[in-house]
Amino acid sequence: MKRTHYFLIFLLGFLAFTNPVKSQTFGKNGMVVSDHYLASEVGVEILKKGGNAIDAAVATAFALAVTHPEAGNIGGGGFIVFMKSDGDVTTFDFREKAPLEASPTMFLDENGEIKDNSNHRGLLSVGVPGTVAGLYQAHQKYGKLPWKDLVEPAIQLAKKGFPMSWGLYRVATRISDADESWDIMKNYFRNSEGEIVAPGELWKQEALAETLTEIKNHGRDGFYKGKVAAEIEAYMKANGGIITQEDLAKYEAVERKPVSTTFDGYEIFSMPPPSSGGVALIEMMNLLEAASIKEVEFNSTAYVHLVAEAMRRAFADRAEFLGDPDFNPKMPVDKLISKEFAKGRFENLDLNHASKSDSSKFGQLYGGDHTTHFSVTDKDGNAVSLTYTLENSYGVKMGSEKLGFIFNNEMGDFNPIPGVTTSTGLIGSDPNLVAPEKRMLSSMTPTIVAKDGKPYLVIGSPGGRTIINTVFQTVLNVLVYEMRIDRAIEAMKIHHQWLPDQILYERHLLSPDTRKALEEMGHKLRPTNNLGVLMGITYDSELGIWVGAADSSSEDGGARGY
Ligand code: GLY
Repeated sequence: MKRTHYFLIFLLGFLAFTNPVKSQTFGKNGMVVSDHYLASEVGVEILKKGGNAIDAAVATAFALAVTHPEAGNIGGGGFIVFMKSDGDVTTFDFREKAPLEASPTMFLDENGEIKDNSNHRGLLSVGVPGTVAGLYQAHQKYGKLPWKDLVEPAIQLAKKGFPMSWGLYRVATRISDADESWDIMKNYFRNSEGEIVAPGELWKQEALAETLTEIKNHGRDGFYKGKVAAEIEAYMKANGGIITQEDLAKYEAVERKPVSTTFDGYEIFSMPPPSSGGVALIEMMNLLEAASIKEVEFNSTAYVHLVAEAMRRAFADRAEFLGDPDFNPKMPVDKLISKEFAKGRFENLDLNHASKSDSSKFGQLYGGDHTTHFSVTDKDGNAVSLTYTLENSYGVKMGSEKLGFIFNNEMGDFNPIPGVTTSTGLIGSDPNLVAPEKRMLSSMTPTIVAKDGKPYLVIGSPGGRTIINTVFQTVLNVLVYEMRIDRAIEAMKIHHQWLPDQILYERHLLSPDTRKALEEMGHKLRPTNNLGVLMGITYDSELGIWVGAADSSSEDGGARGY
C-alpha cells in the first residue's frame, strides 16, 4: 500500500473518532448531550474531575449561556428533573416570576386589547429571572465540586472566546440591526472593530465574563444582590421596565415533587406545575396505555389519529386547569395524572373519525420556541434532565451592555386578557392570569424514564407548546417501538394542541396516503419543517453504557461521553 493510502485510512479513522456529527455517542462513565458541543465538553470535563450529574449540569448550563445565547441563559428560567442513583427523584423549579408591580391587566390598552404586543415586546414582558437561583439551589443541595469550579469554564469561554459557527453567524447578521429597540443586539456579535464576528473567528463576551465572575465569587447573591442587581434595576428604570432590586432579592427557586406514572413496567418522572409539560405527558401516556398503543403500528393512520386525539384532550385540560401551584392550590393534578381519569377521558373516542375541539371555552397559540434542553448522566447512575428558556429566540432582545446578557420575555406565557378566550388562540382562564410574584405556565417537559429503579431514558426539547408532544412521541418511540435513541429523536412527529383544531406534521415524514386517510377521518393537517430539538440519553444495561444523541436539527449540538 502506498503511504498516501495509510494516511487516508488514518485520516478517516481520526474523523470517525472525532466527528461531532455522529448519530449515537457512547460513554461508560457519563454523558452530556446539549445544544452546543462546547457546553457538552464542559460538562464532561466536570464529570472527569469527579463531579456528579448536578455539577456537570450546572457547568453545562453556564457554558450554554455563553455558547448558545438564543436560549442558554442567566436572564431566564427553567426546570431540573433529577434522579439520584438510589432511585429517588426530585425537581427544581426556577421559572421566572412576575414582578411585584405586575397586574392581570398590565398589557392592555383602554379598549382592553393587548397594547403593542407588550406581553412579548419591551421590558414589561420580562419576568424576574430564575436560572442562577435554580442552579445554585440544586448545587447547594446535591453538588459535590466547589461552585467556583462550575462557573469558571463559562467565564473562560466568554473571556477567551470560542469559534463563531455558521449557525450563530447567520442569526447575527439577521438580528444585529433588525430593530431599533433591541439595544443589546446592536453590538452583541461585534468584535472590537465593530464587525460581526466572522465564522471561525473567536467570539468574546467580556461583559458577560464579568457578570459570571460576580456569580462565581458570590453565588446566587452575585446576581440577585450587589452590583449586578443594582445595574438590572437601573437599566429597567431607564428603559421602561418594572423589575427592582426588591424583586431580585425576593426571588426563590423551589424544590418540588415530580409528577409520575407507570407505563409497561417503566416509571416516568416529569416536571409538575408551573410546567404543564409533565401533567400533559403523563395524561397522554396513560391515555395511550388505556388504548393499547402497543398494538398500533408506528406512523400508521391509526397511530396518528390516536396520538392526536390524546394530545387534543390533554391540551384542553391543560388550558382549563393548570397554572402556578402556589396561586392555584386546588389544581386537580392528581386527578389529571391518574389511570382512572385516562380511562374516562377516551370514552368518547371514535376510532374512525376526528373529534371536535370545543372552541367556546379554551385555546392557545403555539408558544415561543426558543428554549433549550440538555441531558446529563454520571458514573454513579445519577441523571439530570434540564430545560431552560428565554421564551423567544434571544428573549426580549434587550439588556444592559454592562452586564452582557439578554433578558427573557417570559411574561408572554401568562394569559394576557382576563376572561377572553377565542378560537383563534387567545386564552383567558384564571389559573394562568398575571399576579405579582406568580410564575407563568410553561410547557417545558424535562423527563426521566426509569427501569428497575435506574435511569433508562433522559429526554427533553425546546419548542413552546410543541415540547410536550415531541417529548411524548420520543418516549413512545423508545418504550413502545423500541427505537434506538437517535432514531427515536429523528422519527416523524406531529403536534395537536386542541386549538387551533389541526394536526401539525413534519413535512416529508408523513406519507401522502396517510395524510389522505386522516383527512377523510375529518382531521385538518398542516405541514411544518421541524418539530423539536431533542437531546437524549438511554442506558444500555447489557453493556453498561450510556448512549447519547443530539437532534440533527441543532446547528451546533453535540453528545459527549467518557
Ligand atoms: N417559554 C416556553 C415555555 O416555558 O413553555
